Parts: sequence; C-alpha cells; structure tokens
Amino acid sequence: MTVRGKFITLEGIDGAGKSTHIGFVTDFLAARGKTVVSSREPGGTPLGEKLRELLLHEKMHLETEALLMFAARREHIAQLIAPQMALGNWVLSDRFTDASFAYQSGGRGLARAKMEALEQWVHPGLQPDLTLLFDVPLEVARERLDATRTLDKFEREQADFFERCRNEYLRRAAEDPDRMAVIDSTRSIEATRARLAEVLEKLL
Ligand code: TYD
Repeated sequence: MTVRGKFITLEGIDGAGKSTHIGFVTDFLAARGKTVVSSREPGGTPLGEKLRELLLHEKMHLETEALLMFAARREHIAQLIAPQMALGNWVLSDRFTDASFAYQSGGRGLARAKMEALEQWVHPGLQPDLTLLFDVPLEVARERLDATRTLDKFEREQADFFERCRNEYLRRAAEDPDRMAVIDSTRSIEATRARLAEVLEKLL
C-alpha cells in the first residue's frame, strides 16, 4: 500500500519572509527523495485561482470573504491536496486555514466560533502535519513589503490589522505546538534555513 504523503503549510503575515524560503523547503524535501507538490491559497486549482483574483482585489463583506476562502479551500482539498497525498506525494501549501484564523478572525474580527465551524465543516479530519509559521515583528514585515509593486487588498491594511493577525497566528501556535513551528525570521537567511532543516528533519 502507498504510504500517505505529508502536508506542510507555510504561514506568516505579509512580509514575514515566507516566499524567501519556499524554494529551500521544496529543495530540502526533494533531496530526501520526496515528490513535492507546491501550491498556494487562496488558489491552487483553476477555480481557486479565479476566487483568488476576487479575494485579493474586490471589496466584500467579511463573511463573504471568509466563505470564499473556504470555498477555494474545499476545492483545493478535493482536487489537489487529498489526491496528491493519497499518491504518496508531499504537499506544500503557501497558506491554509491558519491564515483564515489570522486574517479573517484576528485581523478583521470575524467571531472565532464561526471560523471553527467552517474548519470543522470543510476539513474535519485533515490538519497539516507541519505548519511553518514565519514570525517577525510588524516593523520588519512592513519594511520587507516590496514598495515598488502594487499592493493587494490585504497588503494595504494598516499596522494594527497585521498586529492582530500576528497575535492570532501566535495564539494558534501556542495552542498546537506539535503541529506549528514558529520560525523567527528576523535572523539571517542562513540561520533561518538551519532552523527549517532542523524542523523538517523531524518529520522525515
Ligand atoms: P500571499 O500569500 O501573501 O501571496 P503573495 O505573496 O502573492 O502576496 O497573499 C495572500 C493573501 O490572502 C494574504 O494577504 C493573506 C490573505 N489570506 C486570507 O486573508 N485568508 C486566508 O484564508 C488565506 C489563505 C489568505
């Protein structure tokens, strides 16, 4: 029987440094013989990418935003995450449900009970095997946001929004320390990679 692949997610507020390290994580796992499928949320499927366009650029009611995030996620699980894991492949997703808790509940204030209900509805039996939470103080994240490109709807939010997102991420991590590894990403790229290697090694 094929051994089920693992599911790893990357999280953190905008500018925390997730995108700098995705390639390293993929290469590290591939070097250990894993077939890695990289994906992202919102998105990851043709329908999900259409929803991403709307989510990142259209103004909408907070609950519409939360529901569309989970609609895209439902599709992502059905079309990509579950079948790839069943094949024995490792799925690496740039964001997943922790981002909904951080942004829609923490940032925007949607009642956490509603978020928990959506999580229970959409993926009752599925949690990432490992979540890498890239964490930096807000000032650092703001500096890292590339000011030369057009910022999306979320990236244009104010500092206090991101502070609430970060706090919610850290709350989730404290609640589930076996799944979520907090990666201090204020350190050098090399130091962060060494920490990532250490965390990933435990999963192999
Ligand atoms: P991001 O992952 O930062 O992509 P990029 O690096 O291309 O900007 O952008 C996705 C945005 O979507 C990010 O600002 C967080 C937001 N988001 C939510 O608000 N809720 C969610 O559930 C997810 C998955 C993302």
